[in-house]
Amino acid sequence: MSASTEIQAFPPLRNDLILRAARREKVERVPVWMMRQAGRILPEFRAIREKYDFFTLCQTPELACEVTLMPLNHFDVDAAILFSDILVIPQAMGLKVEMIPGKGPSFPEPIQTPKDLERLKEHVDVNESLNYVFQAITKTRHALQGSVPLIGFSGAPWTLMAYSIEGGGSTTFSKSKAWLYVHSEDAHRFLQLITDVIVDYLVGQVIAGAQLLQLFESHAGILGHEMFCKFSMPYLQQIATKVKQKLTEKSVEPVPMIVFAKGAHYAIQELATLGYDVVSIDWTVEPELAKMHVREAITLQGNLDPCALYSSNEDLITYTKNMVKHFGTQQYIANLGHGVYPDMDPEKCKLFVDTVHKYSSELNKDEIED
Ligand code: CP3
Repeated sequence: MSASTEIQAFPPLRNDLILRAARREKVERVPVWMMRQAGRILPEFRAIREKYDFFTLCQTPELACEVTLMPLNHFDVDAAILFSDILVIPQAMGLKVEMIPGKGPSFPEPIQTPKDLERLKEHVDVNESLNYVFQAITKTRHALQGSVPLIGFSGAPWTLMAYSIEGGGSTTFSKSKAWLYVHSEDAHRFLQLITDVIVDYLVGQVIAGAQLLQLFESHAGILGHEMFCKFSMPYLQQIATKVKQKLTEKSVEPVPMIVFAKGAHYAIQELATLGYDVVSIDWTVEPELAKMHVREAITLQGNLDPCALYSSNEDLITYTKNMVKHFGTQQYIANLGHGVYPDMDPEKCKLFVDTVHKYSSELNKDEIED
């Protein structure tokens, strides 16, 4: 009997630009997608949100699939990202998380002291507690009919630990950062527990049909270099290594992995050494500088300031062209430097995507003719 894990047959892929860019292969134009494209800005998302609670949407594969496909009807993006949230992991570990409209996520009983770690489940079987995500991925992969690849994702350990301790968003993250200085051993214990769940979760996502994976370390920016090296990087590295290793053991082809450590401009060089195929950068990092540090080894993703989408069409075209010019057309995935905001005009998103396509095709042609 073969030891390989059964992967179902999916419709053949018709646009593999983003996969080729992630693998550092030649592309004829720059692939583009937008973080947080699968919600918030679209009227049909807001309409569906009036009928269903946020986590009900995440937990119902038919609905999660429907929302994932929504942006593809508006924008000519080169990838879909699964509609879900990073906080499904703390939920699977036994914490209660609510989404409060207008405010964001809230943990009614956050982790306050190291003793509270005992409240977490000792062993999380992702095939049970996060099976709804795997089902949503498989359903969406079929529904996409091979039009573009499907990106799966997870929050990274430090960001998930920070949310679980703060109980929601925070400006200082002082409660969770205090753990790093006062309870550093317990912090490592907590980060390792989260890491173990993330590894199984991402392996499950690939088996279910995800064709790329992105790790969101959204709160890297409140750590400095030293704390990032101690409390974020080792876990990011473990995740890249173990996900690839476990998939290989199951005879499943590993997929490209993207790391987005927002605000970690101080660690670009190190980020390129963690085993990821793509490093996603925010708008505070100069493309040239990033290229200098990592380009040989890795593909870059990013990095237009999402607020540039508030500017006039003319200015937005200029900002977008400049971005593509600075990154170049190869080993590059165009994106925003963070997710779109809820009040952004879908027309501007469309202009951003179309400008990347048009301008990068022209640039590529010039390069070939030169
Ligand atoms: O493109 C997509 O929208 C894909 C799905 C997606 C969501 N959240 C849906 C969502 C993804 C990839 C995320 C990731 C996520 N969630 C992150 C990392 C990315 C980042 O922005 O740094 C973080 C930090 C979270 C936690 C979270 N979820 C916050 C802070 C909030 C509230 C504020 C906000 O951003 O809207 C959410 C809610 C959330 N997640 C919404 C959506 C569509 C809006 C919820 C609503 O409709 O009430």
